[in-house]
Amino acid sequence: MYLIQKYLLILTSRMFSIIPLVSTKKLPCYYMTINFLIVNNFKINKMKKINTHDYYLSAKSILPKPLWDYIEGGASDELTIEMNTNDFKKVQVIPRRMIDIKNRNITTSVLGQKIQLPVIIAPVAGQRNFHEEGVLGSTKAAETAGTINIVPTNSGYTLEEVTKNTTQKHWFQIYHYDKKVTKDLILRAQNAGYSAICLTVDGERTDRRERDQRNNLKLKDYTWGANLINYPGLIQNISLKGQESMATITYNTIKWIREITNLPLIIKGIISPEDAKNLEEIGVNGIIVSNHGGRVTDSIQSSISALPKIKNVVSRDFELYLDSGIRRGMDVIKSISLGAKAVLIGRPMLWGLSTNGQKGVEDILRILREEIDLAMAGCGETQISQINPNLVKYNFD
Ligand SMILES: Cc1cc2nc3c(=O)[nH]c(=O)nc-3n(C[C@H](O)[C@H](O)[C@H](O)COP(=O)(O)O)c2cc1C
Repeated sequence: MYLIQKYLLILTSRMFSIIPLVSTKKLPCYYMTINFLIVNNFKINKMKKINTHDYYLSAKSILPKPLWDYIEGGASDELTIEMNTNDFKKVQVIPRRMIDIKNRNITTSVLGQKIQLPVIIAPVAGQRNFHEEGVLGSTKAAETAGTINIVPTNSGYTLEEVTKNTTQKHWFQIYHYDKKVTKDLILRAQNAGYSAICLTVDGERTDRRERDQRNNLKLKDYTWGANLINYPGLIQNISLKGQESMATITYNTIKWIREITNLPLIIKGIISPEDAKNLEEIGVNGIIVSNHGGRVTDSIQSSISALPKIKNVVSRDFELYLDSGIRRGMDVIKSISLGAKAVLIGRPMLWGLSTNGQKGVEDILRILREEIDLAMAGCGETQISQINPNLVKYNFD
């Protein structure tokens, strides 16, 4: 072990040209720091990973800092990121007892499509930066788990490549760059066999992501731009200006999109009950209650605390989904009890992907499946469809 560490130390020192740069006096100090990092990372990667946080640690130890910061970070002071996870702690469960919980069923359906667990993979840009398998890996993992991947426009593989390499129905996510691109992408998704369109409406302008600014982050075009290859000008614009290259979205835009496709239309990025109510009236098929994982505008309300009021203003059967802050199976159960049909995971999927590609994502979904099942048992629930607000008490004030 000692010899391996020593060899790695010399190798990394050479790679980063540390030895010629430091004075020999300081060498023991550098030796200790590098040794500490190597031993720690080695320990983390060898560690048995039993929850999503273990994968968080693993991804952090593997990824170069700029890529890690891109996953982990968010808008400005990252207050919303903190609120997203913290507010799940403000929900407490009131379990029922004297119930036969031996047979439990965690399957459910979204837009009539059966899924084996109430967890969907969120659209996440640039997955190919974290593992060569990228969105192909996450989509195959979703299929192994019996669920859906919301395949993002900003991807290292084309939307057609994803369907050619997989077998089930997935959803396709779009931003509204301009009418021509939006229409083109929707038609392509329709032809390729996607079962729904997910329009993200909260990315039009974003706060600065200060970590990315400091790191001078530049993702290579091939890792996220495969679907926009026909629009080289747009790719260049996005990489230079970030989200500023998007067109404004109004209710008229939603009505227009509603008219140009017969595919179910899901709107992602809603926190206001008024928006939710209006969107249902326009005829969209579902809403993702989301603040984009705290990545767009800081201080936006947490998704879990926004959910109850939204649930109150929409029809009983109108499908609501939730993302931003899901880390545990119990978070999924809390979301369902407050009105979500299913939830989405963004960062946890990336921690799995960064660690071990498709297999890592499969592991994340398996861990959540086991946790959801145990959480249901602990709550005295046997069917996802029977979970209701009586299961929880909360105070978000
Ligand atoms: C690195 C990264 C890239 C993302 N890219 C997109 C995207 O292209 N489109 C989108 O609608 N949401 C995107 N999101 C937001 C996710 O879809 C999701 O809303 C968010 O990650 C959920 O929060 P969580 O990370 O706490 O699970 C991205 C999130 C991350 C972490």
